[in-house]
Order: sequence, then C-alpha cells, then structure tokens
Amino acid sequence: MARYDDAILRQVQQAIDIVELIGERVSLKQSGKDLKGLCPFHADKNPSMYVSPSKQIFKCFACGAGGDVFKYIQLADRVEFPEAVRILAGRANIELPEPGRGGEGPTGPNKSALAEVNKWAARKFRSWMLEPAGEAARKYYGRRGFTEQTIQRFGLGYAPPGWDNLIAAARKDRIELPLLVAAGLAHQSQKPGHEGSHYDAFRDRVMFPIMDASERVIGFGGRTLGDDTPKYLNTAETPLFNKRRELYGLRWGRHAVTATETVVIVEGYTDVIMAHQAGFENVVATLGTALTDDHVRILGRLAKRIVLIYDADEAGIKASDRALELFLAAGVDLAIGMMPEGLDPCDAIVAGGPKVFADAVAAAIDALEFKWQTVSRQFAAADGTADRRAAVEAMITTLAGMAGYANLDPIRRGLMLDRLATLSGASGEELNRLLSRQVQRRRPTPAAPEGPSQAQTPDRESRAIDIALAQILGVLLAEPSYYHSIRQSIGPTDFVDPNVRALAEPVFELGRGGELSLTALLRKVESPQLANLATDLAERVTRMGVSKVFEGAVAEVERHRHLTTTQELVAPARSRKLTDDELRSLAKKPRDPRNPSPF
Ligand code: UTP
Ligand code: MN
Repeated sequence: MARYDDAILRQVQQAIDIVELIGERVSLKQSGKDLKGLCPFHADKNPSMYVSPSKQIFKCFACGAGGDVFKYIQLADRVEFPEAVRILAGRANIELPEPGRGGEGPTGPNKSALAEVNKWAARKFRSWMLEPAGEAARKYYGRRGFTEQTIQRFGLGYAPPGWDNLIAAARKDRIELPLLVAAGLAHQSQKPGHEGSHYDAFRDRVMFPIMDASERVIGFGGRTLGDDTPKYLNTAETPLFNKRRELYGLRWGRHAVTATETVVIVEGYTDVIMAHQAGFENVVATLGTALTDDHVRILGRLAKRIVLIYDADEAGIKASDRALELFLAAGVDLAIGMMPEGLDPCDAIVAGGPKVFADAVAAAIDALEFKWQTVSRQFAAADGTADRRAAVEAMITTLAGMAGYANLDPIRRGLMLDRLATLSGASGEELNRLLSRQVQRRRPTPAAPEGPSQAQTPDRESRAIDIALAQILGVLLAEPSYYHSIRQSIGPTDFVDPNVRALAEPVFELGRGGELSLTALLRKVESPQLANLATDLAERVTRMGVSKVFEGAVAEVERHRHLTTTQELVAPARSRKLTDDELRSLAKKPRDPRNPSPF
C-alpha cells in the first residue's frame, strides 16, 4: 500500500480545520466544548455526531463512525486513504510528493509526472478535435448523439492519423520521450530496421480521457474511426492506471451515487457518457476489463444498491453471470437488468429517450433470481441428462459460493432448492447433499485445532485482563502523557487481542518517537474498524476519567500477572481473542454512569 510520509500528512492535517470541513456539509451547533450535528453516515434523527475542535476528530455515538479529517473524507466521499489525502492536499494547496512504498525507493516514473503528461495529452487531443482535421471525430460524436456540452464535460478529443503527431508536439513542448512511453502514449518500434524509433500509441481514434477521484487523468480509451483493431484501445497498466480498480464515470458521478445510494454499471464508455447526458449521473463502467473483486469491494462501499445493465447479447449475459458470482461471493447485493434486445444503453437512449434506460434499471431483478432464470432456460434448452445436470450444478455452485452461506436467509435458500427440485425432479435431500459437499470443498482450511468446549467457554480471567489492556490503550490515546509511566511495565507484546494489538503496536511506536496522539495513530491505521475502535477507546476513557481508568486498569494488569505467573506452571498459555460482542461493548456508548464497570 502506498504510504505518504508522516510529515506531509501532518502538514495536510494541520492545514485543514475539521469543523470547517464538516461544517460545509453538515450544520453544526456548539455543545459544550464540542460541536454537534446530524450524522451523515446513518439515518440520524437527533444530532449524534460530535466534532471536537481541540482533538480535530469527529465521532458519531449512534453509528460509531469516527476519526480525523482523512477518515471523514474517506467516509463522506467514499474513497480510500491515499485518495482522501490527495483531496485534502488539493484543498489546502499543498503539493504532495510521491508516496513511498514500504521503504523501497520509487521505481520508474513518478505518478504525478505521468498524470501531468496525460493531462497535457488530453488537451492536445481536444484541440486536434476542434481543428478542421478533427472533423471526422466531431461527426462521430454527433452521430452518437453527444452534445457540445457533453464533449466538453468528458474532455473528449481526437488523435489524428499519422505516426508521430503527439511525439512531435511533445518535442515542441519540451516533454521527454521516455515520459510519453511510460504513460503509454508512445511505443518503441520493434520492426527490423526501425528499432529505437518511436510512434504514437493512439492514431486516428476518438479519445476518452479517464480520470480518477482526485481528477487526475490516469489513462485513455481510444476508439478507432477506421477498421483498426482493437475497436477500443486502452492505456496499458501504468503505476497510475490500475484497471482492476478504476471505474469510468465515477469522476463525474460520485455525488449522484451518494445522493441516490445507487450505482449503475454499464459496459462501455459511450454508455456512461450518454447515460450522464440523459441525467443518470450514477452510471459507471469498467475499463475494457471484466469486473474484478476489487471493483466489487469498491462498489459495495459506494452504494447500497448496485444495478448491472449489460447489453442483451450473448457476451452481455455471460459477463452478467460472471459478475453476479463475484457479488454474491462478496455478500454485496446486486440487481441485474437488460437493455431491449440489440441495443446498448447508449443507442437505446438515443433511439428511445431516457425512459428506456430508467425502465431497464427499475426492472432489474435480484442477482440470484437472474441466475435462476438463466439456469432454468439452460435446463429447458438442454438435450440430454448431462446438460440438465450441468444446469442444476451451476445453480448449486452459485449457492455454495455465496458469502455467509451458512447465514443465508434459510427461506431464500429453501425456496431456491425447492424450485431446483421441482425443475430437475431430484429430491430436496439429494440437492442438499450436493450443496453441502460443494460448501465443504470451498472451506479454505480446517478450523484451528482448538477443542469446541474450550472455544465456547468464556474465560473470565482472560476477558478481564483484555478489557484492562484495551482501557490502557484508551488511556494512551486520551492522554498521551501517560506513555512514560505505562511503558515502564507494559509493552505492545502484552496486548493479546488481535485488534487491540494491531493498535498497540503503532501506539508504542509513536510513543517512542514522542509523537503519540489519536490523530497521529489514525493516520497510521488504514482499517476503518480499527480507526473506530481507537476513537471509541479514547472517547470512553475520557468520559470515565483518565486517571481513574488508568489506576484501575494497571491494578488489574498487576493482579493478572501475579495470577498467571503461578498458573503458568499448571496450564499452557493459549491465544485469546475478544469476541465481536465484547469489542462492540467496549466501543459502545457510555453505560449508566452509576454502573461504570467494566467500561
Ligand atoms: P462494445 O464493443 O460494446 O463497445 O464494448 P461500444 O461502447 O458499444 O462501442 P461503440 O458503440 O461501437 O462505440 C464495450 C466496452 O468494452 C471495452 C470498452 O471499454 C468498451 O467501451 N472494449 C471493447 C475494449 O476495451 N476493447 C475492445 O476492442 C472492445
Ligand atoms: Mn456496446
């Protein structure tokens, strides 16, 4: 994972005031020394989100969301950490250096240089489109029904025919050839006799610049105007351009996605552009690749409702089938719709108006239902037992691959098995057996060799010590000056619960460097769960009184040490992990203050 230098993160953080940042989107009212407002991260009726100007953090006591300015942007704009850093740095007018990579020096060209050269190229392509020689491109866009405003909004352009238009323009503008090559805009010739010479990657193509959330041009898609293959040529992977993760259209659609809690996935660039032009701004597409599990993860975080609208052809149905397996496996709900036969969304909207598209989205059906329809169609069309059996097994495979299969709504699963039994004539039992065999086969590793009785009996002694240790972490975060007395007797390896330990390590590291604070820690942890846990622990300890918690927790640790040194002679140590419930209870709202223990 790319990492920005701590100093630059601190600089960005100090330049941004969290009250001002959140205040732009949420109305905040003073409440004691903090501010209070409606939490944007759940349906909040009474203001439950606090913003602390002194600590520069926010915290919702209803849904648990909380963190620093970066976390706020991650949640509000639904981007990952590096993106949030870029957004805030842009806001503060701070130029970011390249993030380092786990100690290794940067290899190859620098990402911002690649983004710059891409931006320059996008401007060139656009100006060439506007010149007389760009007539072919302008005609093409006109034929597709794109308005002038749309062409401008999406930064569309044209790479004219010829082998070195861009290379020559670069020479004139003093842009170095290796940079063009690194950005995938020029290639080195492999032809005998021409080795060492270079040529433009995009020739006689209409050009679609691809931008990321921080509005950098990260690559291009170019559609041929002639018979060149491939029809669409996309920038190869560069350090800046990761096709597995990027979605075309999100740059312009992020707000529509958040506002509607829906994201619609289509197949092509032109589909995205026409949908946006028709007023559907929550529409995105992958970039010349099938959907990946990265896309699914990103999409699942972006919106509650995800709708796939692929072309009603063989390729579209196959792609939908592959996509639904990914979504079901990730436990992300998906609905699938189809355009009227023979038309892709772009052409359908041009021919029939926006309603055609709106109808397809509204008529989208649940992915599992879609799979069922595909399977029953296959079953009906099968000639022979083997084909019929393959159809039934395809359905079983899908069911077995669903995330949280064991927790899957039993009614939904039972219904599917019933239908499958009716369709195939197989007994419910037989299908159930097939299903559990497949589920078994998918289990990654056998469960840890821990006796069931041991795993299920709560070990009171270890729980008390884990809670005390979590409290100590909370003390360190609420009041870093305790670090010096705490480290006398406690180190990161004392923390056993994996989540608490994952926080303890960076906490002690920061403490050693004299830089311990909650915000410094939040800059170091990427997982939102850990960030929430850290914020919660600090908050709870503050509310309960730091010194009181400190004394109680240290006493508990000492009592436990005394106990275990005697016990270790008898029983072997075993690993402990707080249950989700226990972690949640640590991180919950303060209980009745008259009954403060254990938290
Ligand atoms: P389509 O072939 O459906 O393109 O591919 P389209 O958008 O309908 O193109 P037009 O309407 O003929 O202009 C859909 C998407 O698949 C990728 C592109 O991202 C395209 O938008 N694709 C297609 C490629 O990457 N390479 C290709 O050769 C073809
Ligand atoms: Mn198409």
